[in-house]
Amino acid sequence: MFATSIRRTIGHRGRAFYGTRPKSLKETLCDVIPKQQERVKMVRAEYGEKTLGNVTVDMAYGGMRGIKGLIYETSLLDPEEGIRFRGLTIPQCQERLPSAPGGEEPLPEGLFWLLLTGEIPTKEQVKMLSEDWAARAKVPIHVWDIIDRCPNTMHPMTQLCVAVNAMQTESSFARAYHEGISKNLYWEYAFEDANDLIARLPLVAAKIYRNVFKDGKIGEIDSKLDWSANFCKLLGFEHPEFVELMRLYLSIHSDHEGGNVSAHATQLVGSALSDPYLSFAAGMNGLAGPLHGLANQEVLRWTLKLQEDVGDNPSDEKIKEYIWNTLNNGQVVPGFGHAVLRKTDPRYICQREFALKHLPNDKLFKLVSQLYNIVPNVLTEHGKTKNPWPNVDAHSGVLLQYYGLKEQDFYTVLFGVSRSLGVLSGLIWNRALGFPIERPKSLTTESIIEKFQLKK
Ligand SMILES: CC(C)(COP(=O)(O)OP(=O)(O)OC[C@H]1O[C@@H](n2cnc3c(N)ncnc32)[C@H](O)[C@@H]1OP(=O)(O)O)[C@@H](O)C(=O)NCCC(=O)NCCS
Repeated sequence: MFATSIRRTIGHRGRAFYGTRPKSLKETLCDVIPKQQERVKMVRAEYGEKTLGNVTVDMAYGGMRGIKGLIYETSLLDPEEGIRFRGLTIPQCQERLPSAPGGEEPLPEGLFWLLLTGEIPTKEQVKMLSEDWAARAKVPIHVWDIIDRCPNTMHPMTQLCVAVNAMQTESSFARAYHEGISKNLYWEYAFEDANDLIARLPLVAAKIYRNVFKDGKIGEIDSKLDWSANFCKLLGFEHPEFVELMRLYLSIHSDHEGGNVSAHATQLVGSALSDPYLSFAAGMNGLAGPLHGLANQEVLRWTLKLQEDVGDNPSDEKIKEYIWNTLNNGQVVPGFGHAVLRKTDPRYICQREFALKHLPNDKLFKLVSQLYNIVPNVLTEHGKTKNPWPNVDAHSGVLLQYYGLKEQDFYTVLFGVSRSLGVLSGLIWNRALGFPIERPKSLTTESIIEKFQLKK
């Protein structure tokens, strides 16, 4: 039944039947995809035999750092400058993407549109997408039951992964594949799943939050609200400044090119043609690691302990001592360092600007600012970290706690809701470009020794 209705839409694609209404996201994508398929064909024909770089033994042992072996169309990370979403920096996105009436921050719907199509949507198109997601936001009863059965002691990220996997029953991609579809149509089913999943995530995430930390009750999706405003309402936070913060938060955490753990895990699992629910759940399992997304909860925990230890208005010396204790205990300073970035993360900077505007006198913000001046010097003196500067996670917790969202264990779920926009856009493109199953070659230490004839 569902597959038939999708096929009907597919039958109309690309035709000028829109009348006076603006093109929808899918219609826009229908125009963009064939052009990009042609460009990829041309690039492969022309440059297919060229080398992108060498792979050294150290790179293979070192988490594949710097190996250029993935194609990911939606964003690109420059070590010095930070992320660009389809060529646009964060300040450019803040300036050019539509915001909510009376608001200033970009609406994540607009960012999703940009990531997917490379085009900036109009306000009207973003409104259409908000309405579309509100209409798609239906969570099956068994998923509610499964979330309700999770013990409160189960980490919210684990609950998110469980719920997303459970929601796989709704996958139109899996159903269509089972029925037998042409490869050319894969992206369209991935598109439907991605949009359904993104639409449902605020409900699922809010239910987890309300179950673990509140009374377990959540409201309903309001078709007049945008995605972020609906999410905030479901969580129980309706302060307009908090809603603006979430629009910014959900936009900037969305995508960070393709090699980070959550993006790569999603693409890797998706390459086996596991559907978008299963693929995204894999990405979320990766995001739940403390060196990746979970760092945001670790940062606030670490900073609050620091505050408790050094008291209000601490001297730089006292803070330095605390940082050295962390390092000497063999732990990392959460929120600092990055596998690719070599400067302060622009996602940190835009959150700092938000804080300077809305909470300049907050004690914890002042402490975070003081850390910004101290930690990089200590890490440099420590001499191990390649990048001593703060990353996105160094700042998000202080903003959330200011508006009353103090449950640190929930922070990575917020990151995950946002990350869906990027990694699912990437997944749709992988299906549109017909990427094959991933299968890089692995080696054993023995085989390396043999190769370089170091064997005694
Ligand atoms: C993000 C991170 C995982 C990148 O790892 P990476 O690419 O291996 O980083 P580097 O190459 O700079 O690591 C070199 C060494 O410095 C250490 N290092 C890196 N960042 C550090 C930090 N913030 N505090 C202490 N030590 C750090 C590494 O643990 C590594 O030590 P080792 O040689 O004993 O294994 C790392 O910087 C980190 O653990 N940061 C803290 C956690 C965090 O904020 N994660 C969120 C990232 S967005």
